Amino acid sequence: MPIAKKNQLVGLDIGSHAIKLVEIEDSKKGKILKNFGMIGLPREAIVEGSIREIEIVSAAIKNLFKNLKIKNKNVATSVSGYSVIVKKISIAKREDSELESTIQEEAEQYIPFDIHDVNLDYEILSAEEDQSAESEEKTQSGLMDVMLVAAKKDIVEDYVSLLQITGLNPAVLDVDAFALQNAFESSSEKTDECYALVNVGAEELGINVIKNGVSIFTRDSSFGGFQINEGIMSSFEVEYDEAEKIKLGGVKLEEKDRGKLEEVLTSVISGWVNEIKRALDFLITTYPDQNIEKVLLSGGSCRIPGFQKYLEMQIDLPVEELNPFSGLQINEKVFDPKYLSYMAPQAAVAVGLALRSTGDK
Ligand SMILES: Nc1ncnc2c1ncn2[C@@H]1O[C@H](COP(=O)(O)OP(=O)(O)OP(=O)(O)O)[C@@H](O)[C@H]1O
Ligand SMILES: [Mg+2]
Repeated sequence: MPIAKKNQLVGLDIGSHAIKLVEIEDSKKGKILKNFGMIGLPREAIVEGSIREIEIVSAAIKNLFKNLKIKNKNVATSVSGYSVIVKKISIAKREDSELESTIQEEAEQYIPFDIHDVNLDYEILSAEEDQSAESEEKTQSGLMDVMLVAAKKDIVEDYVSLLQITGLNPAVLDVDAFALQNAFESSSEKTDECYALVNVGAEELGINVIKNGVSIFTRDSSFGGFQINEGIMSSFEVEYDEAEKIKLGGVKLEEKDRGKLEEVLTSVISGWVNEIKRALDFLITTYPDQNIEKVLLSGGSCRIPGFQKYLEMQIDLPVEELNPFSGLQINEKVFDPKYLSYMAPQAAVAVGLALRSTGDK
């Protein structure tokens, strides 16, 4: 049943480099892309997921809403980074009444912060969702799988107050990894195997491995496109904005400078690839029988030339870009298909958020 219009939310991905906005309309004929836009942020506004310049970020969001003429004030947004922990744990089965306190106690072992400083949420991964042999064994042995999500309270409060001072209603606060998973599931025909979703943004590299629709491994690390800017800044002795232009191919370079750029790219990209490789190797030791079907890339930095090929070579798995728009109906008179397909990986989190509705966590 299509969700009622009043429950529809604006998906707002507040990244450290750019804010992405997506609006989707549910109609009888399916889901329609109604709005998509993006606005850049200055370098210091958001650092590693924490909002440093709330006024600047708020003004950027206001601009985006104004330019796209968006009336809906109900927003779904997400947090990520070191302040957010997502972990699947196994605990002994209990009565519902005991569950809450047991999970709270168990969670303390897995959360590197004071338990009083985090908002804790959990979801029981029922046997229906995870029908693997491994989960059947657990059911028989009296264990149950629980997905823990903990986010530091100060970060959550910052995002909520940012939206409030902007005149918006934070209806859903999600986690980047789950929003991405949502975008993947709604845009892919087949989702019942094991996939690695890898998002390379400006300051964060997020890995989420899902199996039969359940996240079995997540990790966020401080890698991203910004490292390339830093490398260019020191190698070319330029400011941040000029480095961004050089990175995106907007500056004509001489032969020797092309070599310097190549060096920066190679060193940063190999760091990303090693990080992804380490995560997948760890996964294989934890789940020895698990075959990963493919790696799906998103985030603006996945388009750095050479990255996708090099990753594919190093991990020996198929690597593709995630196109979150492929499950949506697109009016080509409103959206240029070339532009959309170019922007697709960067829009993935925002699409996943726009697909949420009021009442979702
Ligand atoms: N065509 C491109 N080629 C290479 N890099 C690109 C391209 N387009 C954008 N980027 C880089 O991608 C990054 C922005 O991606 P994205 O919007 O996914 O990040 P973000 O969500 O703002 O950051 P984060 O999630 O890390 O806080 C920037 O570093 C930008 O320079
Ligand atoms: Mg991002």
